[in-house]
Amino acid sequence: MTKKRVLSGVQPTGNLHLGNYLGAIRNWVPLQQNYDTFFCVVDLHALTADFDPKVLTKTSYELAAWFIAAGVDPKLSPIFIQSHVFAHTQLTWLLNCVTSLNWLERMIQFKEKAIKQGENVNVGLMDYPVLMAADILLYQADLVPVGEDQKQHIELTRDIAIKFNGAFSNGKNPTFKLPEPLIMKAGGRVMSLGDGTQKMSKSDPSDQSRINLLDTADQITKKIKRCRTDSIIGLKFGDPERPQCDNLLTIYQLVTEKSREAVAEECAEMSWGQFKPMLAEALVAHLAPIQKRFHEVISDQAYVDSILKDGRERAEAVANQTLHAAQSAMGLPPRV
Ligand code: TYM
Repeated sequence: MTKKRVLSGVQPTGNLHLGNYLGAIRNWVPLQQNYDTFFCVVDLHALTADFDPKVLTKTSYELAAWFIAAGVDPKLSPIFIQSHVFAHTQLTWLLNCVTSLNWLERMIQFKEKAIKQGENVNVGLMDYPVLMAADILLYQADLVPVGEDQKQHIELTRDIAIKFNGAFSNGKNPTFKLPEPLIMKAGGRVMSLGDGTQKMSKSDPSDQSRINLLDTADQITKKIKRCRTDSIIGLKFGDPERPQCDNLLTIYQLVTEKSREAVAEECAEMSWGQFKPMLAEALVAHLAPIQKRFHEVISDQAYVDSILKDGRERAEAVANQTLHAAQSAMGLPPRV
């Protein structure tokens, strides 16, 4: 039996944080055993907000190194740069021509980013979910492991695929498979350290709001010490009045790999004064080996290049096949 396919990606916009790691990248690692997995540095997506070309090259390589440091095995999973596989932009155009403008206008991230980006609301920002649909559909992905904030984009991907299949494929042989999101209950939405009702985000102007994967032990300890809490003794999951408490307990649970029940019991009578140093220590201990591996990988550019070349070749083999099927379904004349 052929394995089911998994595809996911992260933007190389710098400031990779605990939300990206716990909500997405870390969950890719166990999937490699039972699925056919592909992981992508989505550099073309990063062009839709302000960026510095020199920094973009560097952060793209760094992101590939983070994937490896977090446990993605490039032998099992092709790691590639989106812009290296031309089929992504090619398929985007075809999908643009079946996507209704009002579907894109409804996207929550577009609306939020359009407000944040003020002067720089470019066409790419609106078209971003169509590029993401192309990323997923090209690989005929069954599952897309992401954080909660990407769920709407995957629903849109399904809508685009259904419309395309309905218009251009015969019922028995659809061009695209319909993907499902894979969102973790714990970690699917890691919240800001400053406000337990807002998600941890790369674009938050306050660095205190997030733990960056490259933060030092000292920075992590200070951020946890200063992070917003309350004056109640006894820490519990799931109290809607205490979202920051639920968030910090969840982070603790995930980085210690304890069960939710064990953490609930351990922390039931605790004060913040007892819990915060414990959380900081657990975070530092969890991130230290990943940071060490990151530095090893990124200092070897030849190795990173070889991984990306191999990843590009394996990704292209799949992506080009789907692109050709979509072109043919739309009646574009075959290349001569
Ligand atoms: P990006 O680069 O913003 O985020 C990368 C991944 O991190 C998750 N994430 C979070 N998870 C939990 N809590 C948080 N606070 C948090 N913040 C971010 C995101 O959900 C995501 O899984 N559009 C995507 C990238 C993309 C993609 C794709 C993903 C492009 N093409 C194809 C999957 C498949 C994005 O901007 O993610």
